[in-house]
Amino acid sequence: MERFRVVFVCIFLLISPVRISAISATLTPGQSIRDGETLVSAEGNFELGFFSPGSSNNRYLGIWYKQTTPGTSVWVANREKPIVDRLGVLNVTAQGVLVLFNSTNYAVWSSNVSRTAQNPVVQLLDSGNLAVKDGNDSNPDNFLWQSFDYPSETLLPGMKWGKNLVTGLDRYISPWKSSDDPARGDFAFRLDPRGRGYSQMLLMRGLAILFRTGTWNGFRWGGVPDTVSNTVYREQFVSTANESYYRFDLLNSSIPSRLVISPAGIPQRLTWIPQTNLWAPYSVVQIDQCDTYTLCGVNGICSINDQAVCSCLESFVPKTPDRWNSQDWSGGCVRRTQLGCNNGDGFLKHTGVKLPDMSDSWVNTSMSLNECGDMCLSNCSCVAYSNSDIRGGGSGCYLWFSELKDTKQLPQGGEDLYIRMAASELRSYEKKRSSSRRKLRRIIVGILIPSVVVLLLGLILFMRRRNPRRQAFTPSIRIENYKDESDRNDGMELPAFDFTTIEYATDCFSFKNKLGEGGFGSVYKGTLSDGQEIAVKRLSKDSGQGLTEFKNEVILIAKLQHRNLVKLLGCCIEGNERILIYEYMPNKSLDNFIFDQTNTNILDWQARLNIIGGIARGLLYLHQDSRLRIIHRDLKASNVLLDDSMNPKISDFGMARTFGGDQIEANTSRIVGTYGYMSPEYAVDGLFSIKSDVFSFGVLVLEIVSAKKNRGFFHPDHNHNLLGHAWRLWNEGRPLELMNKKIDDSSSLSEVIRCIQVGLLCVQQRPEDRPSMSTVVVMLSSEISLPQPKQPGFYTERSFSEQETSSSSIRSASRNNISFTVFEPR
Ligand SMILES: *[C@@H]1O[C@H](CO)[C@@H](O)[C@H](O)[C@H]1NC(C)=O
Ligand SMILES: *[C@@H]1O[C@H](CO)[C@@H](O)[C@H](O)[C@H]1NC(C)=O
Ligand SMILES: *[C@@H]1O[C@H](CO)[C@@H](O)[C@H](O)[C@H]1NC(C)=O
Ligand SMILES: *[C@@H]1O[C@H](CO)[C@@H](O)[C@H](O)[C@H]1NC(C)=O
Ligand SMILES: *[C@@H]1O[C@H](CO)[C@@H](O)[C@H](O)[C@H]1NC(C)=O
Ligand SMILES: *[C@@H]1O[C@H](CO)[C@@H](O)[C@H](O)[C@H]1NC(C)=O
Ligand SMILES: *[C@@H]1O[C@H](CO)[C@@H](O)[C@H](O)[C@H]1NC(C)=O
Ligand SMILES: *[C@@H]1O[C@H](CO)[C@@H](O)[C@H](O)[C@H]1NC(C)=O
Repeated sequence: MERFRVVFVCIFLLISPVRISAISATLTPGQSIRDGETLVSAEGNFELGFFSPGSSNNRYLGIWYKQTTPGTSVWVANREKPIVDRLGVLNVTAQGVLVLFNSTNYAVWSSNVSRTAQNPVVQLLDSGNLAVKDGNDSNPDNFLWQSFDYPSETLLPGMKWGKNLVTGLDRYISPWKSSDDPARGDFAFRLDPRGRGYSQMLLMRGLAILFRTGTWNGFRWGGVPDTVSNTVYREQFVSTANESYYRFDLLNSSIPSRLVISPAGIPQRLTWIPQTNLWAPYSVVQIDQCDTYTLCGVNGICSINDQAVCSCLESFVPKTPDRWNSQDWSGGCVRRTQLGCNNGDGFLKHTGVKLPDMSDSWVNTSMSLNECGDMCLSNCSCVAYSNSDIRGGGSGCYLWFSELKDTKQLPQGGEDLYIRMAASELRSYEKKRSSSRRKLRRIIVGILIPSVVVLLLGLILFMRRRNPRRQAFTPSIRIENYKDESDRNDGMELPAFDFTTIEYATDCFSFKNKLGEGGFGSVYKGTLSDGQEIAVKRLSKDSGQGLTEFKNEVILIAKLQHRNLVKLLGCCIEGNERILIYEYMPNKSLDNFIFDQTNTNILDWQARLNIIGGIARGLLYLHQDSRLRIIHRDLKASNVLLDDSMNPKISDFGMARTFGGDQIEANTSRIVGTYGYMSPEYAVDGLFSIKSDVFSFGVLVLEIVSAKKNRGFFHPDHNHNLLGHAWRLWNEGRPLELMNKKIDDSSSLSEVIRCIQVGLLCVQQRPEDRPSMSTVVVMLSSEISLPQPKQPGFYTERSFSEQETSSSSIRSASRNNISFTVFEPR
């Protein structure tokens, strides 16, 4: 995540060219641009010249926004070949070829023209396109050369993103190597290069596919449904015999928008907010873990809202059930019953899906759905079909011929997919459905209807007694302080609550509603006028972070969705108030259970194991699968909340990012975290990484097993803290004594030992020795043999005094004095 933030900041502010003179918008043969001179488009939107990115001294020829964000680069000519001094010059030859020379007259870069012109003119257009035209011919199809054909990391409005099938020209975006180096990074976001170019975009790293947008369905990419009905741009996909490309065009040219890919390989759409002079994230392209290409293997389907993210498509079963059950889904699924071809095979309709990968499918854009189904049925190797275009009730035909890959169940939107099944499977599916329908009917008649009636009556009485001034929860599409179109869209991502609503909901933040003092502020319980319970986090006011910055971060965090993360419902920004509204967790936090002598018995071993596994998966998602790469930095028992089924949900994630202000470096002067959970390298040197979260996770695991706090742990025999105690018991061959109660069945015992071992591996002194969360998840859920843990960090006697530095008590930092030391090996 840190990388992510750094990237955008840098790409915004990378250029500060020394301008000697600006030339008019055109160049003709014989004219040139030297370093220091620039070419400006007619209306002054864009500028072409030499610049140095980030902290580099190298010079590059590029195009950047001149008016909106001076210094935001959109195109670089000599990406791979920098000029080392300020003596570069761009010449125009008599044939209209652009040549960039270094001071020893070496052609560092040149435009590539297949045609020559009588009267070539070079012009920087107001779209940001550098074009070589023949005279005054302004038809882009006749340009001799244009920079829009060779995109860098930015897709601008009007660019064709895709392939010219006649010339083979493939236009795609690829990130900079780093904010200092515009050379092509490892990633490419491009039209599917397999076969003849299907109507989907792929995010690739080398030859590996990381993410697929889903096929174009006439309105939008099938897997990116949140681009519906925006008012900033219009998008289209053009597919003819000659070319296949996507383009978007602004609806209002004074509200620019662009798609960029960061050096970390994260594509994102940004929109310019004039009031704040910032590029605000408009939408992220990848939304959740299910956007990881073929996460669930072949014939699997990924659904972020289900208990198990991956499941098999109907009538398919896991290929290797053991691995599947331990969350290794890569093996995918196989048919339970082989297809009978012409012996009664049928189709089952799946609704609301992102259609499977199109690598070896077949398309006819004029067939009807019925023709499509008949065609599929008549070919024994066809396994699924769907419409290719959903406009006007649906038309066109896609057929799939092999395994179905990368299918996703979408929370909203999505298309219909018809999957072939053997006759017997269809029959048993129908039976299952009708029996469950019968059951449901019985439930509705017997229980639900009477209770709904009672509930409604109660609700009416209740509403009458409530304060009529109390305002309703209005999922607004507007964030206060902003009034124009672009902001409305920006705000659409997250409901904005108004302050009075929150005041009413929490009885003016009354003490009786206070749930606790969490990291970065206080948390209150609230009840909205419709009865929904919420948790309200009122952030303390010392962030020093700008409003828009805060808002943008919150919008990003709201996109993080995982069943082991607390869901952000909305925010409220008014004056100095920064308030986050979360779903309410009736069972409060984990520390109420594990550290409380009376409650600790509620959690039996299976519940604890479930909690450990859930925290691990939530953390893995933050670290890796969300693609924002968030380091939590304050993982602890009180930041793990429990839902009514005792499933753990990590809270306060992204807070370090949102509220940390300047802490975007991997080395920080203000340490956020809680002693007892902090890794040595972080507490002592301020160095944090995903491995510092792994350390905190390890502490948490040992705390859950032992039901004792690491900090404040006391043992009559020695001066070690909980980590030291666990390490000692481990080495003495009696790890089970760490467990706070006796367990009799042996399979649980081996699970306990495994958890302790994983916990100890996570708290090892050296970050590089600690496993990553993905390894931890595998270690916890399989029988693979584990390495022997080495000495933990921070396990010995406390010898010097240190102020508590927890983020949750910055304002009362001197209240608790605790001490720790970095141990010396014995
Ligand atoms: C580039 O153009 C400049 C000015 O027109 C000229 O002096 C110079 O010789 C040209 N360089 C090359 C390598 O052609
Ligand atoms: C110009 O580029 C050539 C080829 O990369 C290189 O050998 C030469 O040293 C460069 N000249 C300068 C002044 O950097
Ligand atoms: C320039 O054109 C030639 C042939 O027309 C082609 O082989 C080459 O790849 C092109 N170079 C670039 C950078 O597009
Ligand atoms: C281009 O300009 C010439 C005069 O300079 C004019 O005769 C001609 O019609 C113009 N062509 C177009 C396509 O506008
Ligand atoms: C494709 O290109 C050919 C010649 O290059 C042209 O005749 C034809 O009209 C084009 N087709 C489309 C659909 O643009
Ligand atoms: C475009 O946006 C500007 C600035 O927000 C606004 O003043 C103008 O009315 C808009 N134009 C149209 C056509 O919507
Ligand atoms: C597509 O389907 C239509 C209607 O069945 C048919 O007339 C047409 O020939 C098909 N086109 C291709 C390329 O198969
Ligand atoms: C079935 O479809 C495949 C793939 O398009 C094709 O190769 C095969 O010839 C078809 N078989 C029949 C019987 O139409």
